Amino acid sequence: MIRNTALFLGLVAIAAVVWSVSGDAVPEPPNGRGAAVYREYCFRCHGTNGEGGEGRYPIREHLLVSMDVDTVISTIAFGASGALRPNDQGVRKGMPPAPYNDADVAEVTAYVMRSIAKRSVTITAEDVARVKREHLEALRRRLGTAN
Ligand code: HEC
Repeated sequence: MIRNTALFLGLVAIAAVVWSVSGDAVPEPPNGRGAAVYREYCFRCHGTNGEGGEGRYPIREHLLVSMDVDTVISTIAFGASGALRPNDQGVRKGMPPAPYNDADVAEVTAYVMRSIAKRSVTITAEDVARVKREHLEALRRRLGTAN
């Protein structure tokens, strides 16, 4: 009985170690520029791995795994107005535009895609510039103003 209990506890301990190691698998170098921008700016709202920081704004991993890459770039570059959710009691929690240049936005976007959504993507400063240009053109079309 004691031996069975010890065996059981041993197995639980091994399972816990395996689970925690696989859960921490982050395929992104922690010293890259994307990780630095994340720590410097995004961390305050989104926490270490997108679980939510002091302001409790988790990055919704289930959205990020299937979100179109351009949409993720524009959300980070332009921010989001914040949808009303059931427990928000009428307060919109929005996200400000990231105050970084195109190269840094590219790095931090790739960082969250890799480390949170586990998607392997390559995003360049040119991709960010294109998404911004397209966003602006769409706005102009909606406002009916040429250029
Ligand atoms: C002031 C707090 C704040 C900061 C700083 C912030 N975010 Fe957000 N972020 C939010 C909120 C709130 C939402 C949800 C917006 C909505 O519901 O429309 C969000 C949404 C997102 C999303 C879309 C997925 C989702 O769950 O809606 C991504 C991706 C994201 N943020 C990444 C980042 C990155 C990367 C940075 C740093 C460059 C950053 N955020 C900085 C508050 C913040």
